[in-house]
Amino acid sequence: MKVKGTPYRTIWLSENAWAIEIIDQTKLPHDFVVIRLQNLSEVCTAIRDMWVRGAPLIGATAAYGMALAMHGDASDAGLENAYDRLYETRPTAVNLRWALDDLNSLLEPLPADQRRNAAYKRALEIADADVEMCSSIGDYGKELIEAAWFKKGKPSLEQGGVNVLTHCNAGWLATVDWGTALAPIYKAHNVGIPVHVWVDETRPRNQGASLTAWELGQHGVPNTIIVDNAGGHIMQHGMVDLCIVGTDRTAASGDVCNKIGTYLKALAAHDNDVPFYVGLPSPTIDWTIDDGVKDIPIEQRDTMEITAMTGRASNGEVMDVSIVPDGAKTANYAFDVTPRRLVTGLITERGVSEASREGLSKLFPEFSN
Ligand code: MRU
Repeated sequence: MKVKGTPYRTIWLSENAWAIEIIDQTKLPHDFVVIRLQNLSEVCTAIRDMWVRGAPLIGATAAYGMALAMHGDASDAGLENAYDRLYETRPTAVNLRWALDDLNSLLEPLPADQRRNAAYKRALEIADADVEMCSSIGDYGKELIEAAWFKKGKPSLEQGGVNVLTHCNAGWLATVDWGTALAPIYKAHNVGIPVHVWVDETRPRNQGASLTAWELGQHGVPNTIIVDNAGGHIMQHGMVDLCIVGTDRTAASGDVCNKIGTYLKALAAHDNDVPFYVGLPSPTIDWTIDDGVKDIPIEQRDTMEITAMTGRASNGEVMDVSIVPDGAKTANYAFDVTPRRLVTGLITERGVSEASREGLSKLFPEFSN
């Protein structure tokens, strides 16, 4: 997607052909900063501190992290160390484990002197495959947006257009390109469907307000930021035609783990007969888990994310300000699980599935056992 007219992916090889470059997402929307990562430690920091974030991008970054590690030390011990350190960075997004397992099973049988090149090649394949999958999710999801627009009698934007609510950031910044939840929106917008997006701000880190609104704006997609608690109200008043969110891990049963607050949106959507869709590439499906509520590990993050907020002051300086009483107690759950009964459909790269093991198995028979 484009930033000020220039096409970007979220991760790429630097011109020296072994380091990687990323967009530091903690600086958006105020500053667009590209950072070069040159070793395993820097990649671990970038994932843990959320310079890169979003399940598919975490997976692609971890794959490149393995390649950078092999650039430094391609021994068996180096491989094991890289796997373990990257694995510890963020617990909920299953794409991390998926990418690490993929690289590990490729590299482990190889002699050490072949590991480096094989790892870089595979990391690029993973990144390219993510772009393909997200583009395909966009094509299938666009049909849903178009159908909702047709059902309303094809109103122009001035007449209200078609309104999609999304939570957190599941756009191109969360993937290598296109996004998961936002890919259908970009594809709809690109063919002239008048789509408007309600963007949940997504406390505590405000990925909606800082990232989703920014990237939609860069692409010219009309959007409005709302506070997280506004979703129920606007659904009650017929202002949302469908919800589309992303996911960090979806159980084989169809239970969907996503950014904290997603479950409440799904409840409100259910209560107001608003279809609730989830966009996901297949590496986000955890075929080993059935009960998402019980078995998906929920990351708890630093309390600073709740006690302070970052913003640009009127003098232009970007600063952190404290917003709670000194010494306040906090609990920072980063994700929640939406049970499959609240999910209208899963938009995958192979089509739209019902949120169930049967539905997913029809699309992905190779994983059905
Ligand atoms: O904590 P983050 O920003 O990595 O979490 C990302 C999300 O939860 C997004 O909502 C997204 O749906 C999953 S990634 C496409």
